[in-house]
Amino acid sequence: MGTTARGSAPGGEIEEMLDAHEQLAQRIVDREAELPPRSPGALPDDLRPAAAGRPLAAVVEALGKVLDRTPSAASPRFFNQLFGGRDRAATLAEMLVPLTNTSMYTFKVAGTQVLLEQEVLARMTRFAGFPDGEGSLTPGGSLSNLLAMMIARNEALEHAREEGVGGRATAVYTSDQGHYSIRKNAGILGLGRRAVREIPSDHRGRMRVEALRSALLRDRADGILPLMINATAGTTVLGAFDPISEIADLAAEQGVWLHVDGALGASALLSPQHRGLLEGVDRADSLTWNAHKMMGVPLSCSALLLRRRGLLTGHLNEQADYLFQADHDALNPGTRSIQCGRRNDALKLWAAWMHHGDEGYRQRIDKLFALARHAARRIAGDPAFELLLEPESINVCFCVRGHSSPALCRTLDQRRVLKIGHGMALGRRAIRLVCVNPDLDETAIDAALDSILETAASLSPPTGGTISESGSCGANNVV
Ligand SMILES: Cc1ncc(COP(=O)(O)O)c(C=O)c1O
Repeated sequence: MGTTARGSAPGGEIEEMLDAHEQLAQRIVDREAELPPRSPGALPDDLRPAAAGRPLAAVVEALGKVLDRTPSAASPRFFNQLFGGRDRAATLAEMLVPLTNTSMYTFKVAGTQVLLEQEVLARMTRFAGFPDGEGSLTPGGSLSNLLAMMIARNEALEHAREEGVGGRATAVYTSDQGHYSIRKNAGILGLGRRAVREIPSDHRGRMRVEALRSALLRDRADGILPLMINATAGTTVLGAFDPISEIADLAAEQGVWLHVDGALGASALLSPQHRGLLEGVDRADSLTWNAHKMMGVPLSCSALLLRRRGLLTGHLNEQADYLFQADHDALNPGTRSIQCGRRNDALKLWAAWMHHGDEGYRQRIDKLFALARHAARRIAGDPAFELLLEPESINVCFCVRGHSSPALCRTLDQRRVLKIGHGMALGRRAIRLVCVNPDLDETAIDAALDSILETAASLSPPTGGTISESGSCGANNVV
């Protein structure tokens, strides 16, 4: 693949770039109905930078080779993650971001883009029920959770920002279905991973509130300071929602910071039909909301929202007179972020919201939930499958009877049939089908399920795994 020859007249360079971009983008789209071959683990020599540079055309050719080996999350065969599909408005906007190379710390540098960010954050805080709230876009849900935990720590231990935790024993509570970033962040923040209490969940994967209460009281009796309760809205494997309202009652009674990790599920707030899953979120202190999951905005785009305005400045502001020289700090988001230079994640979310409106987003969320219900019905109606439980949102967890979920997922990947993953939930290792791509319809979901059964049937004898008496895949079907 080469680039169109253009003169060196002003504007020629951008045309050359755009021509190449168009060809490469088309190449992605033309090939994404199929999954790419699994490339060998080592980078070929012609894809390594060398002492001598190469002309742009050679780089374009190399880019083509890289793309040919890269799975696309917009493929109808991609069900592996909590994101997928391709939002046109958001992708179009995102492709413009490096052209201005905007850093989102000051109005002086970022101009109107700062106002776009404030606009989308204000919209999200309204949907969360935080009328006097504030927010910050972060590089992902793990980092939104980190920011929430840092603020919760500093609010509970008033000297922590200046002096650290100083060996004070603290505790953070999350369910055994909560995301691993809570543990990781406890390590990062100097609380120690052992400060995290994994509270058992019930038969639907929802945190048991009585067990949470017992753990809190036990810690208090032992002189350990409870810092934060993390309620998950949309757990990573099951897509389950913790009972936020009940947990909010307990958090208020005990005076403990309540964070809701809605990286996956906060987007349900956009749908009157499904927002009840997050009932009580307006009483939380903070909320993580990933727009790069159900809202379909390209990675990464996450928000940390806070119910009370002023906390971000209070816990993040630093003097930097070389940087914050013009304008009031209200217009300088760098006073409220972890990063100094910060990539522009606002433009794509703003563009998508401009395009869809609240109404388009409502339809999108409702469609994703309906697709998951369709998949669950189809699985429950076929004796070759076993549905783990009725999905609460967009993740459908199931087994193929007599087959190991990990082995089956690996074969599906090796044969380039589907990208689909598996996870541990309710003591079982299940295949997780994520219905997050609104460009798919029921036929596409059926086709994916058919291809799983065909692949399983071709594996003979079955790939192992403990088979319980009922013939279902057992608790230990881990390969
Ligand atoms: C519940 C939950 N929280 C947090 C995260 C982390 O989000 P990110 O991948 O954007 O860091 C995930 C990721 O899947 C998640 O499922």
